[in-house]
Amino acid sequence: MTDLRIEVVDDVVALGRAAADHVSGFLAGREASTVVPATGETPLGLYAELASRQGAGELYPTGVTIVQLDEYLGVAPEDRRSLFGWMHRTVLGPLGIADDGVLRLPVDGDAAACAIFDRTLDDRGGIDLAILGLGDNGHLGFNEPASNVASPTRVVELTSTTIEANARYWGSTDDVPTRAVTLGLGPLLRARTIVLLVAGERKRGIVHRALEGPVGEDVPASFLREAGAEVTVIVDRAAWGAS
Ligand code: F6R
Repeated sequence: MTDLRIEVVDDVVALGRAAADHVSGFLAGREASTVVPATGETPLGLYAELASRQGAGELYPTGVTIVQLDEYLGVAPEDRRSLFGWMHRTVLGPLGIADDGVLRLPVDGDAAACAIFDRTLDDRGGIDLAILGLGDNGHLGFNEPASNVASPTRVVELTSTTIEANARYWGSTDDVPTRAVTLGLGPLLRARTIVLLVAGERKRGIVHRALEGPVGEDVPASFLREAGAEVTVIVDRAAWGAS
């Protein structure tokens, strides 16, 4: 049974701080941990706060191995739309983590390479901490609606909802690749600790649907309620509503 806690905070700034408290507490005293950091806008405050705490000598992350959550299919790191590039700019660079230590997804989506990725992750003991955002359609990573709870790392077609949501990162829907490689729900939901960050009014319907509606493939984030992990949802007031 999932141990799921919901923490409602005032705004997106408070969300970054609350998430940083959670992640710092998680990393404190650990000699090694395997961490999956989502890209996207919601965790940006968290990563900036972690970097600032590290700069102030309040955080000494040691032995952190980063695992890539998702990438647009065929998009090279030099491409402005690369999610690896986004992770480099917002997580790896600011925290002084070397790019070459990251367990990276096969950007070409080769099925055998995806299977090797999952095996390598398993052999290394799986994920200790996954930091996730919530898609407008309830996706986790790029596990879009109708993703099987046990789905492996694989190529996916992005839905029109996700393409429209991602257009705000890159300019227009025409700039958003239509396919991606994602860490599967199977390995992701085997993480021992998961932090889901949700901000903004646009997520209000989907966050309640994920946490209170039926559990199933229509809303992949609903599977968090059945994961074996310790799950913390940190959500701002704009997303949660007044209740
Ligand atoms: C990004 C990712 C996505 C985002 C989600 C929310 O690596 O995996 O699942 O976390 O689409 O994005 P934002 O935070 O920009 O609303």
